[in-house]
Parts: sequence; structure tokens; C-alpha cells
Amino acid sequence: MTVLPSVELTVYAYDCDAFGHLNHATALALLERARWDSLARGPGSDLFHRNGVMPVVRKANVEYRAAVFPGDVLRVELTVPDRGTTSWTVRHVVTRASDSVPVFEADVVLVCVDRTGRPTPLPDELTALLGPRTSGAHATRRVTVEGGSAELTVDVRGDGLPVLFVHGFPFDRTMWRHQVAALTRYRRIAPDLCGVGDSRGAGDEYSMGRYADDLAALLDSLDVRRAVICGLSMGGYIAFELVRRHPERVRALMLCDTRASPDADGARRRRDELAALAGREGPGAVGEQLIPNLLGAATRAERPEILEQCLAMSRRYSVPGMAGALRAMRDRPDSTPDLPKIGVPTLVMVGAEDPTSPPAVMEAMAKAIPRARYVVIPGAGHVSPLEQPLASSRTMADFLDGLPPA
Ligand code: MLT
Repeated sequence: MTVLPSVELTVYAYDCDAFGHLNHATALALLERARWDSLARGPGSDLFHRNGVMPVVRKANVEYRAAVFPGDVLRVELTVPDRGTTSWTVRHVVTRASDSVPVFEADVVLVCVDRTGRPTPLPDELTALLGPRTSGAHATRRVTVEGGSAELTVDVRGDGLPVLFVHGFPFDRTMWRHQVAALTRYRRIAPDLCGVGDSRGAGDEYSMGRYADDLAALLDSLDVRRAVICGLSMGGYIAFELVRRHPERVRALMLCDTRASPDADGARRRRDELAALAGREGPGAVGEQLIPNLLGAATRAERPEILEQCLAMSRRYSVPGMAGALRAMRDRPDSTPDLPKIGVPTLVMVGAEDPTSPPAVMEAMAKAIPRARYVVIPGAGHVSPLEQPLASSRTMADFLDGLPPA
């Protein structure tokens, strides 16, 4: 991801509304000021003018975190996660300079237009600044896995080293939305497991082995020989199974908020109760029981939309898909003896407030894996990639960028 010079800006009274807060219109204007200042620190703010083009905003997505008042100094970090032929995206991460409190984040899509206002390819001087084109190959594909046993829906984006994202329970592939958007130097592959979302599975045969075999067949269908396997929680259990059954497919591991040990007796009984609940009241009822307790305190208090997104994911399970996943987790083997045998580079990442695979458990797991890197994500519970997308994506990008050549 291309990094542009960061800038600091002061908020003036005229940037704020009658209550003293920065408002949406002036936030966008501040971001524009930040982009021009950043340009001035690089190739010069006349870059567009001297090339006979102009940038215009096509889309802006802003997520506000904290109020801003006159006199605050804001630090704006700018990166370019995506660049096409005529357009590019600038990600702005804005913090208060005095105490580094995050105040807002914004993705702004800009398009290059000529003097008549028509979109035009970026001039060479701009492409040199923004870095190589990220592939426009963003597709949702439905892949039928070997033997026709399942039809998996998968998001496939970009080029480069493949990274297979395996979701947790009761989530779906959209829990990786930020990493699929941000890790632009890699080929991101994010499927819904069978029985989840738009993916269909056959019959009642759910097990970690079956999920792993489906994913190996999915990699075949995409002509991928080896991938980095990134699994969260249940996705981590499946990653262990891939290491056991298909070691030749695993280039590296990113294990998020997961555990190697199997269910204890009480947890196994609970799986059966939840499967019965899914049958009686539908998959959403299981999501409502589980998900609020999985998220970190700050997520619950300040980001209600994340809870909503997770609940929506749980409602996308079929009843057999949900009961099957619960049974598969209930019966999963102990992966602890396999940890010292893991021979590929491994990242172990955990939300600081994860209640089900807490940092102490994850740290012990990391210590058992030769040379694993262990990272705690502050301000996150069990779903760190969704709760703290920037820190999680940055941690993953650092790990992926540092992988030794295959
Ligand atoms: C998950 O996120 O996949 C679940 O918390 C895993 C589990 O229930 O063991």
C-alpha cells in the first residue's frame, strides 16, 4: 500500500457547527486540505495542473470516532490502498495530535478528469506517486468443489501471493471485508464455508476435515497451489486441519483469536444445546446468544453497527449449516500436539479483550509454535479483524511483507 506524506492541520472555529463540533461537510473539506498539503510535501500541489487534469471526488465513506473542536490539531495519515486506470482511493486515518485519540477514518475515491470533466487515465507522474495498479479483478465467484459436494461462494480480489481467509462461527466471509479491501499486494480469497451465506453444502456431513477438504478443492479451482491460510477461531481450527491434511498447500499461517485445545465436556454439551436452538428458533437466535459476549467493551459501547453486522452474518447460516458447524467444533481433535511441528511462518494475533481465546491462551500457543510472531490488538474482543480493522490489517501486512521468499 502506497504511503503519502502525513500532515497536521488545525481546526478553526469556522470549521465547526453551532455546538463547536466539526461537521460532516467541513470534515470532508479538511480531508481535501490534507490531500493538497500532502501533495505539496511530495511532487508539488501543481502536479495535476501541470498534467492538464484534475482530481474529483467520486465517493467518500467516513467513520467518525470522536468529536473535534476548534483549536484541535489533527494528524492525518494518508495511504493509497487501491489504484485503477482512472481512479484511486485515499485512506485517511485522522487522530488528535495531542493524545493520538482516533477521531475519524475516511476512504475517498478520486477520479482523474480532463478539462472537459471526462475520466481520463492517470498521468505517469501520478502513477509513479501512487504505485502500481492494484488489480481490478474483484469478483464474487461461485465455485463447485470437487465431486460436487459443495458450492462455495468466494470473494477473490487482486494478484500476488494468495491469502485464504477462513471465517469463524457464527460469521461469514464478510467478516474479512477490511482485510480484503486493505491487503492490496496480495490475492485475497474469502469464501463462505458450506452451509453459510450463499454457499451450499450437501447433507449433514460437517467436520473440520470436510471444511478443510472443501477449501483445498477451492484452491484447486482457483489454480492456487499454496496459500497463506488466515483463520479466525473456527477458521483457525480449520487451518490446523489443513496443516494436517494438506500441508503442501500451506505457505504460512495467520491464526487469529483461536485455540488449539478441543472442547471440554461442558462446552460440548453447550454445542448440542445451541444446535437444538438453531433448529427451534433459527440461526439468528444462536447469534443473539453468542455474539454480544464475544465483542470487546469499546466495540459494544461505541460501535453498535459491528454487533449488527455480526448478527446479520449469523442469520445467513442455514439450519443444517449452523448445526453442522457446531457439531464439527464439538468433535474437533486436539491440535496441541501439532503445534511444535508447524514448520511455516506463523502469526498469532489476538484481541486484548478476547473472552473465548484470551491473550494468555494465544500466547502459550504462539510459544509452542516454532518462531511464531505474537501480536495483541488493543481495543478488540474476539473478532479483532472487524473490531480493529486498521491495526489488524497493518499487523497482517507487516507479517506478509516480511515473509521469506518461498
Ligand atoms: C468462532 O468464533 O469461530 C467461535 O467462537 C469458535 C468456538 O465457538 O469455538
